[in-house]
Amino acid sequence: MDRKEFLASMLVLGGAAIVPSVAKADALERIEKLVAKASGKKIDSRLTVLLSDIHICGELKDGKSLHYPYNPTSLQLRIEEILSMRPLPANVLVFGDVAWDYGLEEDYRYAAELLRPLEDAGIKLTLGLGNHDRRAAFFKVFPQYVQTSPVKGRAVSVVALPDVDVVMLDSLAEKPNLKPRQATTVSGEMLESQAEWLKDFLAKSERPAILCAHHPPKEMPLLEKVISASPNVVGFVYGHVHYWSKIPYIIRSRVPQRMVQTVSLPATFYGDIGMAVMETNSKGACIKFSSKGYWWPQPSDNPPKEWQRRVEDTQREEVNLLF
Ligand SMILES: [Fe+2]
Repeated sequence: MDRKEFLASMLVLGGAAIVPSVAKADALERIEKLVAKASGKKIDSRLTVLLSDIHICGELKDGKSLHYPYNPTSLQLRIEEILSMRPLPANVLVFGDVAWDYGLEEDYRYAAELLRPLEDAGIKLTLGLGNHDRRAAFFKVFPQYVQTSPVKGRAVSVVALPDVDVVMLDSLAEKPNLKPRQATTVSGEMLESQAEWLKDFLAKSERPAILCAHHPPKEMPLLEKVISASPNVVGFVYGHVHYWSKIPYIIRSRVPQRMVQTVSLPATFYGDIGMAVMETNSKGACIKFSSKGYWWPQPSDNPPKEWQRRVEDTQREEVNLLF
């Protein structure tokens, strides 16, 4: 594929590898039409879309995000892609870093507005928290998580699919008494209370479980211990890194040969751009990724050839988790 063909293909894919224009009225109009078209269409409970690191900035200037104004557009392209799926997925999961940088309330309000068309189409949305999120602001905009989370003070969700439980854990290590716009620990955390709840949940369950969090499992020793003691954990999916990858995770366990497949998701903001689609049945889950672009650290209208190569190399990626 030469450069001209590459740019043409990117336009077909939605232009995400080039500079996406900031949120426009025509994107909203297209999304509204897609929501109307989705009405009454089949929703498949075995289809789940995995999105991560959407980093929405709700501080606006002239109607555009103050930081990385193309992020909302990049997310809207994914939303258009989801609403065009037939059948529609029953669930969309967002693996944290919902907010741009410091988890401001306005970031969550804007993200909620952008994501609303999914719910309007009858798709259930589940959000996780990353190191750029802040719990107080998140819970203010999404108070339902205070009620539904089985772990007090954390945003933990269990999405019960027909053949497997998908458990969204809360790996945000939020330092106490953070000042507004102050960064917190970048790496993940799993406190005793959450690890204990998870251990108990897995012990009582006879179904396979896919664990999910913003951070990779290796950053959380307590989580590693739970996985090692729980044979029903069949995979671990995370965001944070902004790159698609599928690495076997060898865990210390009573069964020395045991490995748990891990999946690192693309982002909608720098790195691998796109989303993954997970299809489940009684035997396992197949997670597929087809790149919709690559940029680092900002999109460019003159992308280097390595970006093009990365997009081509990640066009048809998939990984299988066995139940
Ligand atoms: Fe991120």
